[in-house]
Amino acid sequence: MSHNTRQRRLAAQRACDRILSGSRPATMRERLADLAAGGDLDGQPDFYGDGPVTTLEERVAELLGTEAAVFFPTGTMAQQVALRYGAERSGHPTVALHPLGHLEVHERHAYANLSGLRSTWPTTEPRNPTAAEIGALAEPVGSVVIELPLRDAGFVLPTWDELAAASAAAHSIGARLHLDGARLWESTPYLAHTLSEIADLADSTYVSFYKTIGGLSGAALAGTEQLASYARVWRHRYGGQVFQQWPAALSALAGLDRELPRIPEYVRHARTVAAALAALPGALVYPEPPHTQRFRLWLPYPAQALDDAALALAEDEKVWFAAGWQETDVPGMAMTEITVADPALDWTIEDVAEIGARFLSRVQDR
Ligand SMILES: Cc1ncc(COP(=O)(O)O)c(C=O)c1O
Repeated sequence: MSHNTRQRRLAAQRACDRILSGSRPATMRERLADLAAGGDLDGQPDFYGDGPVTTLEERVAELLGTEAAVFFPTGTMAQQVALRYGAERSGHPTVALHPLGHLEVHERHAYANLSGLRSTWPTTEPRNPTAAEIGALAEPVGSVVIELPLRDAGFVLPTWDELAAASAAAHSIGARLHLDGARLWESTPYLAHTLSEIADLADSTYVSFYKTIGGLSGAALAGTEQLASYARVWRHRYGGQVFQQWPAALSALAGLDRELPRIPEYVRHARTVAAALAALPGALVYPEPPHTQRFRLWLPYPAQALDDAALALAEDEKVWFAAGWQETDVPGMAMTEITVADPALDWTIEDVAEIGARFLSRVQDR
């Protein structure tokens, strides 16, 4: 998408009175005002990771019930460190990944190119690996990675029993279980267990501060004190020892306070919105019901026509439906990811049906 198209889309979404998918994009001034909610702006900024960054690390360790947590500027860096720790501890440079996982698809294979690791795939099915698939791996692995939820498969989660069995299977083959928990925050209602019960199944857990809870950027790697001390050394070596990161830390602290208590409501309402969208003519929704506050929606039109109609609806009627449509392997069907958050909570089934029909009539007019 060109810079101009993106700016136009953001401006249109910002000006909308009602938003179905996603949140109202904030300006930089609004984001600055928001920081005060994360801590005392009159205090000292951090110096290479103390102050508000330490407060955030302690908060995450407490939430996940781990001995420690270490702040990272990106999840990409945090996961490199977790996986190389697994490789060094076990002596096995192979990592069990999913071919649709973030590490394989969206990080330019940093785990291989930067960290010298290689991958093996327990499964190519569009879900996380089962205990049987982990147990059947043909070579020893240092870590097994499970992405909660697996985004590129439609934000799908295993059940709690499947996750617990996968954890036991990883341990039984002498591997560590690492959770890519970029969106772990929104996985608790479906798993019906707390963040700390989930993290307790794993040897290391990564969480993101800008997904779900709406921080500026950043991530944490949580686990034992020994992992944390290793992570601080390797964070420095990877270039992640940033002089000051207080804006990211304060926005994450504010996001945890504001968003964590609301997630069950978002996930519940996502089920209502998904059912209403699935009833639109020609629509497909997956998974239905959604496992988190996000899911995939397909409609039988070209992606460009859907994006154009979403923008026109926003600019003419101040209603944001859903954009970011992509062509798919299913002939004639385009897909987008729907995120149900605060702005969608007042959308009833009737609203989705009525505005959905208006949106589709604009698509058909193109
Ligand atoms: C599932 C998953 N893992 C890891 C990452 C990496 O996070 P970061 O952008 O902080 O490197 C992302 C980011 O989109 C993600 O969605």
